[in-house]
Parts: sequence; structure tokens; C-alpha cells
Amino acid sequence: MAGLLVLSERLLRHNNSMQEDAALPARLIDPFGRKVEYVRLSVTDKCNLRCFYCLPEGFKGFEEPAHWLRFDEIERVIGAFAGLGVSRVRITGGEPLVRKDLPQLVGQLAGLPGVDDLSLSTNATLLERHAQSLQRAGVSRINVSLDTLRPERFREITGGRLAPVLDGLMAAKVAGFAPIKLNMLALRGINDDEFEDMVEFCIEHGFTLRLIETMPVGSTGRQASEHYLDLQVVKQRLAQRFDLVPGFMPGGGPARYVQVRGTDLRIGFITPISQHFCATCNRVRLAVDGTLYLCLGQDHKYELRPLLRQGISDAGLQEVIMEALTLKPERHEFREQPGQVARFMSMTGG
Ligand code: 5AD
Ligand code: SF4
Repeated sequence: MAGLLVLSERLLRHNNSMQEDAALPARLIDPFGRKVEYVRLSVTDKCNLRCFYCLPEGFKGFEEPAHWLRFDEIERVIGAFAGLGVSRVRITGGEPLVRKDLPQLVGQLAGLPGVDDLSLSTNATLLERHAQSLQRAGVSRINVSLDTLRPERFREITGGRLAPVLDGLMAAKVAGFAPIKLNMLALRGINDDEFEDMVEFCIEHGFTLRLIETMPVGSTGRQASEHYLDLQVVKQRLAQRFDLVPGFMPGGGPARYVQVRGTDLRIGFITPISQHFCATCNRVRLAVDGTLYLCLGQDHKYELRPLLRQGISDAGLQEVIMEALTLKPERHEFREQPGQVARFMSMTGG
């Protein structure tokens, strides 16, 4: 009798799982067979810094507030993506913390069924004040842009002060974010004497280091390309000083990792130029004005805001998202056509 019961329970469970299979969300597959499961959400195109490779000094062309997606609109779009199988969302800017009440939005997104990884990219200038509320609201992982540990140099690169960034980093540590990744743009003639220092800093604090090649996005990015540095060369240089072994880091991004033997430090290399990773691209980008960009290095886009404001249904929204995905280009052409992307990096948050 007991055996029969177990059997019928198993059958029931089997049936339930069959029903769940049938109800599995439609997948977002692009024309090149890539599965999109990651949305980068820019909550503002504004920034309180002016990194020379990103935003021009005195830039005034920011999106007007009436065009910003409201939190309820963002929640609907991300909800629609989640229903289509997107499980990971990264909040970016500009600088996301200049958007008022960001922890509230975080709470709204963290509560969406299907969203199980909510992360944040920030310059950390305002992080000291917000680290704890962001963590409580549901941000699990944080990336911080930091190209130098020298105050003078920081001012030259960003126009701002380094001290609040370091305070923000330490607050993130105290708040319990793990991992905390530092994103450092490798800039020849500007910070290429600091990679070793940055490695030591990350070992000391338990941060993960990611080195990034400069991309010719916007007029600023193109100018910065004269400081382009091939990360393959940087890796060889670091290998002379540190004992590097192959490493792994969960997160689904394009970085390839090594580990410094005898430490917890992982170093990721993000090489959009020297070794592009478009074949495994798994992401799309939503700008603050509700424009969906299908590629960081191309202009293919789809505007969702007018549809949202005309009262499109949730099912309709999912349909247009799937339609938009058919526009996803195969790859960027940063090498072949470096003049192609006119928008600034702050519009789509890297
Ligand atoms: N090339 C590569 N990355 C850039 N970022 C901004 N501008 C560029 C560029 N031209 C990235 C930086 C920064 C993040 C906000 O965007 O990594 O940390
Ligand atoms: Fe701001 Fe990041 Fe652009 Fe620097 S790179 S100006 S911190 S958005």
C-alpha cells in the first residue's frame, strides 16, 4: 500500500513537471541562435563624473525627464523580459545612483518572478550612502568603475574626487556585497603603470579585478582609442610578476579569468577589440528613454516607450520584444567601422 502511494506521488510529480514544462517561458533566441537571458538596464544617462573616454565636458544633451521610463514602466518591461526567460538584470547608467529613489526600483525588480540575479554597475561616488539600502532591497552583486588609485590621476580621468569612491567601496564591503568587481579601463600612457598596484589592492580587499579594452563608442570613445591597449600584452606583463593560473568566475559575462596562485584574486580580461566575444552575446540594453538597443556597437534599436504609453498589453509587449530581437546584429564592427556608434557610453552604461 505504502509502495503504491509512493508510486502515485511520483506520477503526480511527474505530471506536474510535465505541466511546468508546457508552461516554460518562451525563449528569446536571436537570428544567430544566441539565447538572450540578460538585460542591462540604464536608469539614467546622467553622471556626476566626466570620464574623458565616456562623456564630453560640458555635455548638455541628456534625455529630458518626461522621456525617462517611470519605475512602473521599467517594472513592466523587465517583467515582460522575465516572462520570456531573462533571469539576470544589471542596473547601469550613466551613474545609476543619481536616479532618485533607486533602492525602491531595486525592490520592485527584485520581486519580479524569474529575476534571480540583480546587479549594479556604479562609479561608487554615492555608494557610501546607499550601499546598505541597495543590499537590503535586493542587489546581490556590484561592479565599480575605477581606473586609478591615485587622486591626481583620478581627477584628470574623471574630473572628480577619488576619496568618496574608496569610501563607497569600503561601504559595499561592509554591506556584504559579494563579489565586488572593479572595472579598470586599460589606457596606454594614462594608467598602464598601475595594473600591478591594482592587483595588490584587490588582493588586499578581496575584490575581483577586471581589465577592459577601450571601445570607440561616441566621439569621446573614439578619441580615447588613441590610448587603446591590447590586453593580451597586459596579461603577459602581469604573468611576469604574478603566478597566474586559469580561473573561473560565475556571472555570464564575456570576461576570461585567471587567478593569482595562492590568493583568492581573480583577474578578468574583457577584450572587445583584440578578441571579440559577439558569438556568445547573451544580452540586450534598455536605455532610460525606453529604447531597446540590441548591440553596444551598433545602432539597431526598438523604441518601447511609445508603445508603453499607448497602453500596450503585457502579451503585446512580449510580442514586440521578440520582434525586436530579430534585429540583433551578428557582431559589432569596432575595428572595421570605428566611427559607427554616435551615442555616448553613458546612454547604455557600457
Ligand atoms: N570604452 C570601454 N568602456 C567604456 N566605458 C565607458 N566608456 C568606455 C569606452 N569608451 C565603461 C567603463 C566604465 C563604464 C561605465 O563604461 O568601463 O566603467
Ligand atoms: Fe560616468 Fe561611468 Fe561615463 Fe565615467 S564612464 S562619465 S563614471 S558613466
